[in-house]
Amino acid sequence: MKAVGELMKVFITRRIPQEGMKILTAAGVCEVSQWDSDEPVPRTELLRGVQGAQGLLCLLTDKIDAEVLDAAGPNLKVISTMSVGFDHLAVDEIKKRGIRVGYTPDVLTDATAELTMALLLATARRIPEGVEEVKNGGWSSWKPLWLCGPGLSGSTVGIIGLGRIGMAIAQRLMPFGVKRLLYSGRTAKAHAAEVNGEFVPMETLVSESDFIVVTCSLTPETQGLCNKAFFSKMKKTAVFINSSRGAVVNQEDLYEALSSGQIAAAGLDVTTPEPLPTSHPLLTLKNCVVLPHIGSAENSTRGVMSALAARNLLGGLQGSDMPSELSF
Ligand code: NDP
Ligand code: DGY
Repeated sequence: MKAVGELMKVFITRRIPQEGMKILTAAGVCEVSQWDSDEPVPRTELLRGVQGAQGLLCLLTDKIDAEVLDAAGPNLKVISTMSVGFDHLAVDEIKKRGIRVGYTPDVLTDATAELTMALLLATARRIPEGVEEVKNGGWSSWKPLWLCGPGLSGSTVGIIGLGRIGMAIAQRLMPFGVKRLLYSGRTAKAHAAEVNGEFVPMETLVSESDFIVVTCSLTPETQGLCNKAFFSKMKKTAVFINSSRGAVVNQEDLYEALSSGQIAAAGLDVTTPEPLPTSHPLLTLKNCVVLPHIGSAENSTRGVMSALAARNLLGGLQGSDMPSELSF
């Protein structure tokens, strides 16, 4: 039985932006312990820290499975992840135990769409390669045939998963003069009309697109979706972009497709594992641009995500509404 005024125990798995910490402190209802580091909490510390907690605020790097839930014990009421992706949470197990889940949709959509556009343009127009040539003396003169790449104007773009982020990317693509916007997913979307989006079977999207952008969530169905068969159907001139989760792609098959000229180039904001080892074959390829999962790394966005994660946590602790509760 909880005594009146007793503080609820919360574990936070990382140092997070102050916006969220301020909200939790001001609420005065929880006693916070935290893995006070910029680096991920070691598993043993996570299992120790969560013991007896009523609330857990975690990140996408923390695998929250039955072992963690067992370590937390029966008092755990709410898990609040500071991310929109929730593939790191064992949702079936969490649901079975009646634990509520908060996440951070919408607030990072613009930042992630913007970064995906930057990655697409950088990959297609070979910007990292160009920067490297300037630095290493490879820039000998203006040359008509040098560092050319495909443009968006008049192109066909295929978006896999026209959800919040996919749609925000589609909106940003329109002013570039894209001719056709194809998308695939489980269901056709009414909002696709705003961008003249055509709902097509995956095979059509893969074979007809000049640019493919992956923005679906990682699920058992999308895991390994972009594999040898997928890349073999793409145009040889096509560019592949992934800003969803690394596991949607079979990286060995992607390496093969890029190094054999099966596809033109790839830009990845997400990989498996993260970080990608510096010895990874993909990093030897000039036609592969890899970023360190920075989709939402825009100045104000992380603070807003942290504040939303804190509010979700408080709602779950107090048995009231959570601003963004995952329904599952
Ligand atoms: P949404 O839920 O709005 O969109 C997810 C989309 O995935 C939906 O359109 C859904 O389509 C689609 N999808 C689900 N299953 C399949 C499937 N089997 N085949 C094709 N499409 C499918 O989420 P958000 O747009 O907000 O975020 C999407 C993902 O982006 C997150 O889950 C996260 O993994 C990633 N992300 C990455 C970031 C980064 O830093 N790189 C930042 C933020 C998010 P349908 O409804 O038809 O099923
Ligand atoms: C998410 O929120 O799922 C991203 O991958 C990081 O912001």
